[in-house]
Amino acid sequence: MDLEEAGSLARSLQQLFQDAHTVIDESRPTPELVARVTGHLSCALKDLVCVTQTFQNWEHASLQRGVDAYLAERGGPAWYGVSGQGREHNDTIDILTAANRGFERFEPGAVDYATTAVGPEETVEVVTFGLVETVAPDGSPIVVALRGPAETFGREGCRVEVIAAARPAATRAREEIERLMRRHDVMRGQILTFGVSEHRGNSLVTFLPRPALGPDEVILTEGVLETIERHVAGIGRHAEALLARGQHLKRGLLLHGPPGTGKTHTVRYLMGRMPGVTVVVMAGTALRFIAEAAALARRLQPAIVVVEDVDLVAHERRYSEEGSPLLFTLFDAMDGIGADADVTFVLTTNRADLLEDALANRPGRVDLAVEVPRPDAVCRAALLRLYGAREVPEEDLARLVTRTDGMTASFFKELLRRAVLESLREDPAPDMPSEAHLTAALEEMLRAREALTRSLLGAPGNVTRMTNGTDGLLSE
Ligand SMILES: Nc1ncnc2c1ncn2[C@@H]1O[C@H](COP(=O)(O)OP(=O)(O)OP(=O)(O)O)[C@@H](O)[C@H]1O
Ligand SMILES: [Mg+2]
Repeated sequence: MDLEEAGSLARSLQQLFQDAHTVIDESRPTPELVARVTGHLSCALKDLVCVTQTFQNWEHASLQRGVDAYLAERGGPAWYGVSGQGREHNDTIDILTAANRGFERFEPGAVDYATTAVGPEETVEVVTFGLVETVAPDGSPIVVALRGPAETFGREGCRVEVIAAARPAATRAREEIERLMRRHDVMRGQILTFGVSEHRGNSLVTFLPRPALGPDEVILTEGVLETIERHVAGIGRHAEALLARGQHLKRGLLLHGPPGTGKTHTVRYLMGRMPGVTVVVMAGTALRFIAEAAALARRLQPAIVVVEDVDLVAHERRYSEEGSPLLFTLFDAMDGIGADADVTFVLTTNRADLLEDALANRPGRVDLAVEVPRPDAVCRAALLRLYGAREVPEEDLARLVTRTDGMTASFFKELLRRAVLESLREDPAPDMPSEAHLTAALEEMLRAREALTRSLLGAPGNVTRMTNGTDGLLSE
């Protein structure tokens, strides 16, 4: 065979293959997955539109609730999934297209679910890969696809895809799902903290149980707790009347004082006193999520945003030339929420001096600053009683009160624990520690070798300062 003959044979063979492919393509039945979707929508694959909306990973449960509520109103047969290699990488339309060309064997399969937290003790299953046939608000058929975050495949966020024959129908369905999602938001009324959560699929927000503390468990100078509560809860209670009279609701509370005096304790009390109010707690490095937290608080108001140990952020300012970006991010977040929002920012610090300038230069953010000082004699007696010295006679208690001048509440807690340990050495052990147990424990705590512990628990004097910039955590 010469070269020309060989070339002609090659061309003929190529043509033969092409013709054969066309014949096979045309005779190949539409894949089941494609037939299912296009059949429901009565529309050719190439004419479909898909409207997608992506949400943060931690909104997956709320999105599921939104879709569930949407389906509950309109009905829809059961969810189905997709089986086949590489589906995680692709949008649903891409999967349908690939299946249609015969490139990949994507077929209807099992629905994928994951578990995600919806409360401190509660989890639900959410669809991470599934489709469901339903109708748009205008009654036209749509297919809703729900996709969870697929971090191992480089896909952040969860998303809903609405596939339809026409865009307006898909858009309206997507809007309605989002509206329902907001109405059924799993975070509303919860206590949330930003950070890295161990809950899979909820990598940034964790739910915390709501503490239940009675006013008699928070020992502060008379009137202080009432002032704080009136500012945070009282304004919220009169929200409508205040707004009607042109008054703003947004408020900022700064609790400052030495370590262990009860700033965090007071915040926990407030959380317990305001059931149904959303609380977002930010601590440490989580403050970089303050913008997200503020947005969440605005959306889920009435809400409280707690920023613990805000001095750690202000502190950084001294080391950066253009000021602390984080502190200004916090201020921007506080400013960004409209004055009419029922949102309280509660900041705690034991270095109010570091914040003074920043707060003075940008007034209006903190409208109530309350000092939580070391307990006076009355409070010390109350703390001793609260933490277990219930059976100590009045005059013995008075002696302990005098000897513990300058100690903080957390010191008393530890004192009582040690007194109980002391009492357990007796046989039979009494139910309550006596004055002798308390004195023994106190002396033990006051001894020089306890100096470090005392400084850690907030007693004055003998303070070991750390020089790595975290001395705000220790005594002043
Ligand atoms: N005023 C108080 N009344 C009753 N108990 C208190 C009080 N203050 C502190 N305690 C007890 O001591 C513990 C530690 O106090 P807390 O964490 O509130 O200190 P803090 O002021 O936030 O300190 P830091 O500045 O180190 O954060 C509390 O969990 C609580 O058990
Ligand atoms: Mg604290």
